[in-house]
Amino acid sequence: VKGGYATFMDKEIHEQPTAVADTLRGRVDERGELVLDEMRIDPAVLRRVDKIIVIACGTAAYAGHVAKYAIEHWCRIPVEVELAHEFRYRDPVVSEKTLTVAISQSGETMDTIQAVRHAREQGSKVLAIVNTYGSTIAREADAVLYTHAGPEVAVASTKAFLAQITACYLLGLYLAQLRGNKWPDEVADYLTDLGRMPDKIQQVLDTQAETVQALGAELADRPSFLFLGRHVGFPVALEGALKLKELAYVHAEGFAAGELKHGPIALIEEGLPVFVIVPTPRRPVLHDKVIANIQEIRARGARTIVIAEEGDEAVAPFADDVIRVPATPTLMWPLLTVVPLQVFAAALATAKGLDVDQPRNLAKSVTVE
Ligand code: F6R
Repeated sequence: VKGGYATFMDKEIHEQPTAVADTLRGRVDERGELVLDEMRIDPAVLRRVDKIIVIACGTAAYAGHVAKYAIEHWCRIPVEVELAHEFRYRDPVVSEKTLTVAISQSGETMDTIQAVRHAREQGSKVLAIVNTYGSTIAREADAVLYTHAGPEVAVASTKAFLAQITACYLLGLYLAQLRGNKWPDEVADYLTDLGRMPDKIQQVLDTQAETVQALGAELADRPSFLFLGRHVGFPVALEGALKLKELAYVHAEGFAAGELKHGPIALIEEGLPVFVIVPTPRRPVLHDKVIANIQEIRARGARTIVIAEEGDEAVAPFADDVIRVPATPTLMWPLLTVVPLQVFAAALATAKGLDVDQPRNLAKSVTVE
């Protein structure tokens, strides 16, 4: 069942190129145009949408957080990302002009189900991005865009996360085209970028996994880790920290790199391992600021583990360890940079002798509020 892998998580990490490819399959036609037959929400309603609220929990919420950057950029629609349990029990501003996007691997997360019901009661259309066919959220939503990640068995989500980002991007491009923010040829360019991701993810697995696994084993006795990212790297940092908490039971925190000097830099001490996700040097405004952050933490003794684009030599003087990923447009970056963080968390947990597929105190789907 584990297809030759030691754990389901390992198997699912390696299935990520397929999960992304399968989520794209059938949705891009031979002319490179987007076809989303499952968008069963009246186009007239979608044209009027003035706000998108993403509701989700845990890793699925981080996928929404990534999607916010893309959808706002492509569609010029404000996107709010809400933890489903927080959304439900305050008094959120939702109307007929709100599109609610519920993201869930299982489709059975009670917090998310309750939030879906609440949004629909307020007159919002709900689009579900779900991995499990026929699940409660899929049935209750107005339309479903399935992530075709295949069954995810390990408790910690990996391939579902990449598939969720992919599906969110398809939604964003669909809306951008429908609302006239982007022409079909521009959309086709982004679809081409997305279509290249499975091979690039494979390349990360082929070239970096071993180094990252060794690092996981080496750092298995450390009590605390930080993760820094900027722009789409920020939710990746949050996800990297979550993976480590749930699998290895160690303290791990993700921060927006720009937030460092507003508090977290006080945590930096000699030898503290800090992962930093460095944006492409082709976006110097983002890149150079993160390089400055690495310098700051390195000067205070942190062990800097840097995830950077191939050929980005600016990181070298300040990085104790460098993990290389292929060059890719900024918005596609999370699909590559999260992979080494998943591998790291699994390796560190394995080195500690822990059950990677079934971490303590957790269930695969959280069916109680
Ligand atoms: C993290 C993880 C959880 C889930 C969250 C939502 O690895 O698995 O944080 O992402 O419980 O679950 P779904 O997507 O099933 O609604």
